[in-house]
Amino acid sequence: EAGYLFAPSILSADFARLGDEVERVVEAGCEVIHVDVMDNHYVPNLTIGPLVCAAIRPRTRAVIDVHLMVRPVDALVPLFAKAGADIISFHPEASEHPDRTLALIREQGCRAGLALNPATPLTHLDHVMDRLDLIVVMSVNPGFGGQSFIPSAFEKIAEVRRRIDCYRKRTGRDIRLEVDGGIKPDNIRAVADAGADIFVAGSAIFCSPDVDGGYRGVVGRMRA
Ligand code: DX5
Ligand code: ZN
Repeated sequence: EAGYLFAPSILSADFARLGDEVERVVEAGCEVIHVDVMDNHYVPNLTIGPLVCAAIRPRTRAVIDVHLMVRPVDALVPLFAKAGADIISFHPEASEHPDRTLALIREQGCRAGLALNPATPLTHLDHVMDRLDLIVVMSVNPGFGGQSFIPSAFEKIAEVRRRIDCYRKRTGRDIRLEVDGGIKPDNIRAVADAGADIFVAGSAIFCSPDVDGGYRGVVGRMRA
């Protein structure tokens, strides 16, 4: 499973014991923690702000992968950078000037990603590939954990994989392909085969009776 990264989403963790949940899933082997930021405006839910990100930062050396589901985007970028984010992704429809937002994220010392909803066309990737470290294909509509994987995402993942491979051949630079939403032990292999290399999983890990078993249940399918 060389190159694959697993990114548990703390959206489904027990928020009353968040630091312990993070430590547990990192002990189980994950190297990335996915933080879902929802603003009750761009998406119909309200979750985590920079304070919570800053609170988990000293608890782990894992990469903190902040997924902004907010509009507008730019004012929050420096706040999450200061709170210890390593990666910041946002939705292009939510920014007035996505190219500027991508540049801002990198100026703040973070890696930059664009997240594409199920109905968002890949044309948003045109002209900004040089500014991207990560492309997030959403396999659910953003807003809630525990939703079902939307099958049309498979074709989209494959198309993004083709674009990234083309880009890498041309420039020598790699861009990671993260898939977010509805990933379970029974579909993660197919998501990888379509071309993903980072896998977000929330409910599959944190809603299982023990986090360690949930994590191994997801990752184990990749080794089978
Ligand atoms: C959806 C979030 C996802 C999601 C992952 O809005 O961005 O990260 O909650 O959770 P599961 O794996 O439960 O779909
Ligand atoms: Zn997410």
